[in-house]
Parts: sequence; structure tokens; C-alpha cells
Amino acid sequence: MAEGLVIVGGSYAALHMAQGARENGYGEAIRLISDEPWLPYQRPPLSKGFLAGKIERDALALKGEAFYRDNGIEVLLETRVSAIDRQARTVTTAAGANLRYDGLGLALGARPRLLKIAGADLDGVFYLRSLADTLALRERLARPLSIVVIGGGFIGLEVAASLATLGHRVSVVEALERLMARVLPPVLSDFMAQMHRGRGVEVRLSAGVQEIKGDGAGRVASVLCSDGSELAADIVVAGIGVVPETGLAAAAGLACRDGILVDDAARTADPAIVAAGDCVRYPSAFTPDPCRLESVQNASDQGRAAGAALAGKPQAYRAVPWFWSDQYECKLQMAGLSPGHDRLALRGAMAGGRFSLFYFRAGRLVAVDTVNRPGEHLLGRKLLAAGASLTPEQAADESFDLKALLAA
Ligand code: APR
Repeated sequence: MAEGLVIVGGSYAALHMAQGARENGYGEAIRLISDEPWLPYQRPPLSKGFLAGKIERDALALKGEAFYRDNGIEVLLETRVSAIDRQARTVTTAAGANLRYDGLGLALGARPRLLKIAGADLDGVFYLRSLADTLALRERLARPLSIVVIGGGFIGLEVAASLATLGHRVSVVEALERLMARVLPPVLSDFMAQMHRGRGVEVRLSAGVQEIKGDGAGRVASVLCSDGSELAADIVVAGIGVVPETGLAAAAGLACRDGILVDDAARTADPAIVAAGDCVRYPSAFTPDPCRLESVQNASDQGRAAGAALAGKPQAYRAVPWFWSDQYECKLQMAGLSPGHDRLALRGAMAGGRFSLFYFRAGRLVAVDTVNRPGEHLLGRKLLAAGASLTPEQAADESFDLKALLAA
């Protein structure tokens, strides 16, 4: 008797794996196992619109219950998988149940990196990854607060923008000398810093955090920085990066290196097991070495490919990576991967708050970042997918027709 598929995970990659399997004709049972209490939901609004109170909770679900029913996807919520037995082809849940599988999909995601300083366990220290995290934080925002955000990356800056817009007093403490340094070039980091400062957010760069001090009753009172200065804080939100969830895979003997290693069709070395999303490192056409991406796009597209592989119809995953971040009225959209570029061309004027940056490596276009130019973001994605040849001079020339280049 067929045992069907077991997919471990409850977010984009898991959902898309199940969908990918069905779309590729998989006809047996599919069980999706998530340790969260909710059906898969949108995560980006958790630090943006949902935190700022602009999006209702009901609007977060990725799919309604009917979708799972109609596609024969059984969802087991609040169920944690604690072990995989590859020989027996079973997964064991924390409650001790054993579930057999013919094919196993790992969509385990990533967890927030935790602060390792004194005071990190005080009441009032938050991380932001799940709906539960945002709900807990939102409960504390009824009155105007002093909020210290640790980390000036995606999460930190989106949280800072959302909370500053709500009228809270916000400081951002970033360890590196500029914001979003993992993904942005210095000119864009400076642009972001200027924008936040213009909104009254205190941005501290090259700033270490030494300790979170309590009020004597177990609650956060201030953040002590490495230079000896102290920032008053009712609440601390840490967004200092994420760690891929590889524990389950590694314990089962699957190769991991800061991510579960898979091939370009999302397959692990075990023919019955695929993996996709934030937890995965894979060979990408866009980087010289295998890469790990943290994005909705990657989780969705790689999830689909993993689902196809589970259905016995493997297909290469080659989509152009893209990301976005909304902060205040700034919509930053990123296509391709800019780290490692050797030339950069600015299209438009940064001062106007609507512009694009085109990145080149060895004469080839490798990435396009746009600020409030959604049309050019989509064009950038298409140019990258087509491997279009464009020079930095053409990119910088606003009269040069990018659409026509694509059509050619
Ligand atoms: N003190 C201050 N800053 C720190 C510290 C620290 N101890 N440790 C790390 N940082 C800074 C990093 O230099 C970086 O600028 O925190 C920032 C983390 O930024 P990201 O790597 O973008 O991670 P994060 O913001 O947590 O977002 C994680 O979640 O929304 C998703 O896909 C998004 O990839 C993103 C992921």
C-alpha cells in the first residue's frame, strides 16, 4: 500500500511542495506536518503591514481550508517532527507517533539567531519570525514606547519603520558600519539610514550591544551599548539574522553545511527526500558557490521544484532570485544577487526617491535593485532571466529603452 508523501514544515516551501506534487500528477496521500497552530500564512506582513495594524489577521492565510481539502492535503498542526528514520521511511513526532512515507519533503525554514548577552531573557525582549511573535509584540504596543531595535537588516528596519509610523520612539543599533550590509551596497545603505533618520529614528552604526538591563522586576529597562552609552527601552526587538533549521536532517545523516545540501532539482542524496526554502543550500546559476537564500520567492519556486521531484518529475530550479522590503513609503525591490559586483550604474536620481541600481560583474548584468520603481523591477527580473546584454552606460541612460532591449 502506498504511504504517500510527508512534508515537514508549515510555510511557503511546504505549501508549494504539496502543490508542486499535485500539479505533477502525484495521486497518493499528502500529509503536511507543522508545529505552528495555523495553516500556512504570509510572513512578510508580520514586520510590515500586520505589525503596523494595516492588515487584518484573516488576510494573512496563504490558502483557505477549501484548498487543502480540494487538493487532498491533510494538515497536521501543532505537531513537531522529532526524528527521521530513513531506513524505515518513517518520521516520529514529539508525541511519539510514527508516520510512514514514500517521499519526504523538508521545508523546515530558519529560526531567529538569539542574542547571547546578559539580559536577553528579560520580559520585553522580542524576536520576529512567526505570527505568534508579532501577536505577542502587538499586545505591548497600546501606549507610546521607547523601543530599541537590535540589528539593521530586513527585520530590524521594517520593524523600526512600522513602529516609528505608529508613533513609538525607535532606535536601531547595528553592529556593522552600515545598514543591510549583507545585501545592499554602501550607497543604498546610506539612503536607508538617511530615510530612517528623517523619520526620527535614531540609527546607531558600528554599535555593539553589551547588555540589556532590567528594571529589577524582570522587565527590560535599557540597552547598554559597547561604547558605554545607554538607551532607555520599554521593549527590545532583535533582528540579528536567522539560522537554518538543519538539525532534523543532520541527525538523519543528510549532508548539511549551513543548510541542507540539495541538487538543482531540490533533491538530497537520499532518493526519497527533497528539501526547499530557507533551510537549504543549493547550486545556483547566480552564484559561484552553492547558496542559501532567505526569501518568499526561493521558498515558493524551489518548493514547487521539490514537489515535482516528489512526484517523480524532477525539474531544474533556475528562477531569478528576488526580494523586497517595504519601509515607510519606500518599496525596495531586489532582483538577482548583487554581492560580488564590480560595477554599478544608477538610473534616475536618488534624491527623488525613485531610482534603480544596475549591478555588473565582469561586464554582465547580475542584479537590479529598484526603489519605488516596480515596473523596472519586473523588467530587471526579465532582463536577468533572459541573460540580456546591457552596458552600465545604457543602464544609466534613462532614454535607453530597456523594454525594447528585452523584446530584441
Ligand atoms: N548587534 C547588532 N547588530 C547585529 C548583531 C548584534 N549582535 N548581530 C547581527 N547584527 C546585524 C547584522 O549586521 C545585520 O545587519 O543584524 C542584521 C541582520 O540582518 P539580516 O541578515 O537581514 O537578518 P534579519 O533582519 O534578522 O532577517 C532575517 O528574515 O524577513 C526575513 O528574509 C528576511 O532574510 C531575512 C530574514
